[in-house]
Amino acid sequence: MAAVDSFYLLYREIARSCNCYMEALALVGAWYTARKSITVICDFYSLIRLHFIPRLGSRADLIKQYGRWAVVSGATDGIGKAYAEELASRGLNIILISRNEEKLQVVAKDIADTYKVETDIIVADFSSGREIYLPIREALKDKDVGILFLFAQYMPEWLWVWGANILNRSLRKEALSCTA
Ligand SMILES: NC(=O)c1ccc[n+]([C@@H]2O[C@H](COP(=O)([O-])OP(=O)(O)OC[C@H]3O[C@@H](n4cnc5c(N)ncnc54)[C@H](OP(=O)(O)O)[C@@H]3O)[C@@H](O)[C@H]2O)c1
Repeated sequence: MAAVDSFYLLYREIARSCNCYMEALALVGAWYTARKSITVICDFYSLIRLHFIPRLGSRADLIKQYGRWAVVSGATDGIGKAYAEELASRGLNIILISRNEEKLQVVAKDIADTYKVETDIIVADFSSGREIYLPIREALKDKDVGILFLFAQYMPEWLWVWGANILNRSLRKEALSCTA
């Protein structure tokens, strides 16, 4: 019995001396839990804002906002192709640029058939230098281009300023100020 008493006393002594450590640990735990909860709430808010709220309202009218044509370089594969399809699904006519004419024709026909929009192709290799600039500008001169996505694998610095120059007049100034 005496041994049990002394163990109990010993335990109480240890617990009393550890009290401040327990409180410190509890504070760390509370701080960690609060941080994690805030992160989860923020992520959840982003999820709702990005994926659900936009579906509630009507989608922006890109044609009214920017013009009837969109140019997408690197449009036969990957990100460029995905963007070309998304823009076509919103009613824009698409001009596709990349190096391989056969691939361009297949993708352009596919987009035109699926989304009932007009498509056009321009065969150009951006790595061959600025000489491609004039033929492309010539091919686009009668088109009201308001959206330009550059997704070709090869993108030299000058392409951004060049790109801004093919946009319609209302957007050109704004685009050039962004690329400066
Ligand atoms: N995928 C990613 O996760 C990721 C992430 C960040 C950034 N990026 C960048 O985004 C761009 C596109 O990536 P991606 O994954 O969609 O590439 P991808 O699937 O390889 O597609 C590249 C496209 O660019 C065209 N292309 C390649 N070289 C060209 C050139 N010299 N002139 C004209 N067109 C050319 C290709 O068509 P042709 O072969 O017919 O010319 C193809 O349509 C790249 O600049 C990449 O670095 C990609």
